[in-house]
Amino acid sequence: MEVGNDVEQRSSQWYAGSDRNAYIHRAWMRRGLPANAFDGRPHIAIANTASDLTPCNSHLNEVADAVRNGIWEAGGIPLNLPVISLGETQVRPTAMLWRNMAAMATEEMIRANPVDGVVLLGGCDKTIPSLLMAAASVDLPAVVISGGPMLTGTFRGKALGCGTDVWRLSEEVRAGTLTEEDFTRSESSMIRSRGHCNTMGTASTMALVAEALGAMLPGLAGVPAADSRLLEASHSTGRLIVEMVAENRRPSTLFTRASFLNAIVALAAIGGSTNAVVHLLAIAGRLGVELNLDDFDQTGAGVPLLVNLQPAGRFLMEDLHRAGGSLAVLREVRDLLDPTALTVTGRPLVDYLDDAQIWDETVISSRGEPLLPDAGIAVLYGNLAPAGAVIKPAAATPELLKHTGKAVVFDSVEDLRARIDDPDLDVDADSVLILRGCGPKGYPGMPEVANLPLPRKLLEQGVRDMVRICDGRMSGTAYGTVVLHVSPEAAAGGPLALVKSGDLITLDVEARRLTVDASAEELAARQPSFATVAAFAAPVRGWEKLYVDHVMQADTGADLDFLLGSSGDAVSRESH
Ligand code: FES
Repeated sequence: MEVGNDVEQRSSQWYAGSDRNAYIHRAWMRRGLPANAFDGRPHIAIANTASDLTPCNSHLNEVADAVRNGIWEAGGIPLNLPVISLGETQVRPTAMLWRNMAAMATEEMIRANPVDGVVLLGGCDKTIPSLLMAAASVDLPAVVISGGPMLTGTFRGKALGCGTDVWRLSEEVRAGTLTEEDFTRSESSMIRSRGHCNTMGTASTMALVAEALGAMLPGLAGVPAADSRLLEASHSTGRLIVEMVAENRRPSTLFTRASFLNAIVALAAIGGSTNAVVHLLAIAGRLGVELNLDDFDQTGAGVPLLVNLQPAGRFLMEDLHRAGGSLAVLREVRDLLDPTALTVTGRPLVDYLDDAQIWDETVISSRGEPLLPDAGIAVLYGNLAPAGAVIKPAAATPELLKHTGKAVVFDSVEDLRARIDDPDLDVDADSVLILRGCGPKGYPGMPEVANLPLPRKLLEQGVRDMVRICDGRMSGTAYGTVVLHVSPEAAAGGPLALVKSGDLITLDVEARRLTVDASAEELAARQPSFATVAAFAAPVRGWEKLYVDHVMQADTGADLDFLLGSSGDAVSRESH
C-alpha cells in the first residue's frame, strides 16, 4: 500500500504548495495533527451519523474510534465528519422526507472538504441509503459500516422483535386481548442494547443489501452492535479505505448493474423490507446504473426465502448472526449471484462464500428446504397503478393474494384515524382498505403508514389481515397483505385519487394486476373529491417546498429530479 508523497491525493489540491491558500488550509488544521499529515497522506472523512436523537446510531462514535485507529495504522489521516442523522422513530412527519436532504448535504460536505475517501457510518433505516446516495454522487472511494442490530430483548420469557411486536401488541390492545398496562410494561424490554432494530426491518435489510451490493467488508452486515467483532471489523475498514484510495476504488468502478442485481437476490433470500426497493433505485440513479422496478420482480422471482426472521418469520438478527450470518445465506444462492460483481476489497463477492456455513437450519434454511420457493417482491400494474406498485407476498396472507372486494377509501391518515374504528363504518372482512395522500408529494415524504390498522369491529371478530392499498410505504417490521408505493400517487394525479368507496378492487398477485372495476372513460370523468384535494396542502417554503416541487415518484426511487447522477469530486473554485 502506498501512502505519502508517492501518490497524488485530492487533498493535496488544498494542502500542497507554499501559497497563502495552502497555508490557510494547513494552518487551521494544525491542532494536534503531526507535521507529516500534509505530506500527501490520504485524508479520510468518517461520515458519522452518531446522534443522541438517532438512538439506533448513538454508539457510532465508538465505532468511529475503531475506524480512526485503522486509518492511522494504514498511514492515513482520519477526520470525523458529523453528518445529518435521521432517527426513524423520532423525526416528524417522516424520516423519508429528509432522506434526500441528508444525502444532498452529505454529498456536498464530502465534496467541499479536502478528503480523499470516506467511511460511511450508518444504521437506522434512512442513514445507510442517504450515505450511499451521497457517496455515489461524489464518487470518492467509500465504504459502509453498519452499526449492527441490537441484542434480543424479552418480555415475560418471550423474545420481542422491535417494531414488529409493537404493531402486534398494539393490535392486541385494540382487539381487547392485552391491557394497556401490560402493553406499557413491555416498553422497557423492547430495546435491550445499543444498535438498530433487530427484526428484518429496513435497517437490517439495508445493511445486508449494502453488503451484497459490495459496499461493505463481506461478513460485517448483521454483526450485533454490542459484539466486539464490530469494532474489529471497523478497525479493518479503516485500513481498507486507505487501500481503496491508493487503488482508486470508487463507487462508479465497483457498483455495476451486476452488483445491484446481486443486492436484489440478497433482498429476496433474506425476505427483506420493501423499502429497499426505493433506496436501491435511488442509489442506482445516482450512479447512472440502469435499474427499474421490474428488475426487482424478475431478478427476485424464484429466489427462495431462506431467513426465518420477524416480521414474516420467527427469529431475530442476533439469531441470524449466530446461525452463520449474511455469507451463509448468500452461499446458498451463489449460483444466482453474478460472479463478476466486486466488493470494496477489490475482490468479487462470491470469493467470500467458500467458507460460509449454516450453523442453525431453523434460522437459515438450506437451498434444498427453503421457507418459501419464491421470496421476491412482486410488482403490480393496472388501472390503479399505471407506473407500478409493490407487494411482498412472503409477508401476506396466501388466500388474499387473489382477491376482489369493495373499496373503503380514506383520504389521509387523519381521516383514517377518525373513522377506522367507527362501529358504523361500512366494512367487512372482504373489503379492500385504501389509504391515499401518503405518497412522496402527498404527505409529504411517503411515510410508513401503508399497513393501516384493521377496523376494531373486525379485529374483535378475529380478522387479522385484509387487503390494504396505499401510495405510501410500509415499515419493514410490519406484515400483511399490503400493496405499497402505488405510482403515480394520488397527489400527483394518479388514479388512486379517483377511487370511491364501494368500487370493486381486484388484487391478483400471480397475474401482477391491481385494478379498479371502472372504465378509462368513467375514471376520466371523475374528479378527486374535495377531501382528497384538501388533504394535500402544498408547502410554501423551505425543504418541504423544494422536496415537493422536485421529488420523483416511488417507482424511480423518490429522489429529487435534479439529484440524479453524479457531480464527481471536483470543486471549481478556491475559498479565499
Ligand atoms: Fe432505527 Fe428501527 S428505529 S432501525
